[in-house]
Amino acid sequence: ETGHFTYDPGFTSTGSCESALTFIDGDEGILLHRGYSIEDLAENSDFLDVAYLLLYGDLPNKDQKKKFDRDVTYHTMVHEQLSNFYRGFRRDAHPMAVLCGVIGALSAFYHDSTDIHDERQRMVASFRLIAKMPTIAAMAYKYSVGQPFNYPRNDLTYAENFLHMMFAVPAEPYKMSPTIARAMDRILILHADHEQNASTSTVRLSGSSGANPFACIAAGIASLWGPAHGGANEAVLNMLQEIGHKDNINEYIKKAKDKDDPFRLMGFGHRVYKNYDPRAKVMQKSCHEVLAELDLDDPLLELAMALEKIALEDDYFVEKKLFPNVDFYSGIVLKALGFPTSMFTVLFAVARTVGWVAQWKEMIEDPSQKIGRPRQLYTGPAQRAYVPLGDR
Ligand code: SDX
Repeated sequence: ETGHFTYDPGFTSTGSCESALTFIDGDEGILLHRGYSIEDLAENSDFLDVAYLLLYGDLPNKDQKKKFDRDVTYHTMVHEQLSNFYRGFRRDAHPMAVLCGVIGALSAFYHDSTDIHDERQRMVASFRLIAKMPTIAAMAYKYSVGQPFNYPRNDLTYAENFLHMMFAVPAEPYKMSPTIARAMDRILILHADHEQNASTSTVRLSGSSGANPFACIAAGIASLWGPAHGGANEAVLNMLQEIGHKDNINEYIKKAKDKDDPFRLMGFGHRVYKNYDPRAKVMQKSCHEVLAELDLDDPLLELAMALEKIALEDDYFVEKKLFPNVDFYSGIVLKALGFPTSMFTVLFAVARTVGWVAQWKEMIEDPSQKIGRPRQLYTGPAQRAYVPLGDR
């Protein structure tokens, strides 16, 4: 009942692992971080509480929270020279490409001084990554729209700082509303960690060779970018805009069921959840709250809810256990907050950096950890005699 179980030891040396961070019951639609449900955390905690929980195993008390929040806040600024990296990209480069490049480049700034087997240096690297990701992400957006970079502010929370760095301009500070800041914080919590998904496995596998954490997180960003994974939130919005009106829903449901058609209903289905993704429910609630606060009436939300209703009553989706996942509503709320679609997966990466870093730390601190070495089922030809060029 605790969700703890162990694999055969030989299994863990092939790249799969044991972990105490996150438990998912896909059939029941349960997601726990160190035993706390995602619903409770999204309702009662802030993002840095969840970061602390994932990194250290329990929610912080008042003093621990004060010190952790301060330590992260005081690492949010980046080396001034880092801004030069952005000028090497085209203005229309996808922000995920920029993020991948700049985070990889952090290896050149900090890696030489990081001994990953030294606990204090491991934590400094972890703070730097968690703290600087929103700054670097917001800089990627500002570069793409030709606006000046914003420096982080120490008087703001993690979520507020990200909104400030994204949307403030010299002529006008970002008008922060508690509802919007809370929604931003909740969205970050919902994306923080999710067991051994593709990008987290990428971070673990690259980290298992002893590669520096900055390069490992850059690898995780590359994996998350795929439309089957973190790129789905951007793909959901593009899909809804293509569907355009609820009268067209059935045509797209039909395409999604057609084996010969590569079209997938984006935001639906999951490798693990064969029930409703608990994050999707919280995200839908945030969606309604944000649209109400901004007094927005986004027809895409109505369209998404109509699509969800039809899909959940369709035999194919019921039989295949395809339910909305975390990405189904996130695009609508991010669009309402002012994020362009190209920044949706970037935001996912900002949040998931906490999970990636915590999973990487757990792996490095495990004395039994070995380099990951997934095996294969060989399907090629048996050994055969060599054929010289003249005889081929
Ligand atoms: C994330 O792993 C994680 O934890 C990821 C994530 C995280 O937090 O890290 O949760 C974040 O990546 C969420 C998923 C976002 N992706 C999408 O929304 C893209 C659309 N979804 C599909 O691409 C798909 O559902 C996957 C990739 C997510 C899962 O694909 P699988 O492994 O094929 O799912 P499955 O085995 O359960 O599929 C069962 C059947 C298959 O058909 P058959 O081979 O049995 O005939 O359902 C089909 C699939 O082809 N199917 C879909 C579908 N998803 C699966 N058919 C139509 N539309 C879909 N969306």
